[in-house]
Amino acid sequence: MKNFVWKGLRPIFRFPYSIVTTLIRTIKMKRVNTSGKYSNEIKKICELGFSQFNHHLTSEDLTEIKKIDDVIKEKVQVNGAPGFKRFHNIHDKHPLPKTFFNKCNELAKEYFNTSNSTFEATQYQISWHHPKNNPPGLGYHVDDYGKILKFFIFFNEVTDKNGPFRILESSRNFMKMIHGFMWIWLTNLKRTYYEIDNIPSSLLKNERKFLCSPMSIYAVDTSSLHSASQVIEGERRILVLTFRDTRFEI
Ligand SMILES: [Fe+2]
Repeated sequence: MKNFVWKGLRPIFRFPYSIVTTLIRTIKMKRVNTSGKYSNEIKKICELGFSQFNHHLTSEDLTEIKKIDDVIKEKVQVNGAPGFKRFHNIHDKHPLPKTFFNKCNELAKEYFNTSNSTFEATQYQISWHHPKNNPPGLGYHVDDYGKILKFFIFFNEVTDKNGPFRILESSRNFMKMIHGFMWIWLTNLKRTYYEIDNIPSSLLKNERKFLCSPMSIYAVDTSSLHSASQVIEGERRILVLTFRDTRFEI
């Protein structure tokens, strides 16, 4: 009963909050700090929606993060439906290497231009081919209206065959303000997926696939249009760290 009442009242409660938050996020997406340690990455994220991050990491950082992959992949059987296994918040059992995490955290804080950047979650996923494979995140979508930054660690080589991550360059501000408001107000995930017909061809031609060597790491603002791909052959293992700007959150 209590839950039912809360669900009914939530849209009313969130309406004024959503108006203010939409305005703040819209301004913040346009005003980005590009004068700090990670200015090059931040400029690229603003322009394209993503930046490579490897050059800030040492071989020790990569060795440490790879150990997590080595431990988890040993335990996972890579066959059968639905063609993937996803593990949430693996950092609870497998703590992230400190120096690696600190660098990701620093970039997130600088990108959001606030110390109120919150490390939200990790997702580790192994994907492989299955005829009915329908991986999570398939189809162009945005994860939020601004205020999100994810780090993608690709443990093995990614080719056209093993399900490359796809992003439409320069689509970071694709979600219109009114749509962003609806999203913040009602938080309905389906509304963040877009049919190809509703995406301008000028953006579709900007599709970039992350084809990369093992241990490639990217920082991605997933308020850009992006999509998973089906695995045709082989497997793909990734770890995703999610950071959000949590100022003004309720
Ligand atoms: Fe996504």
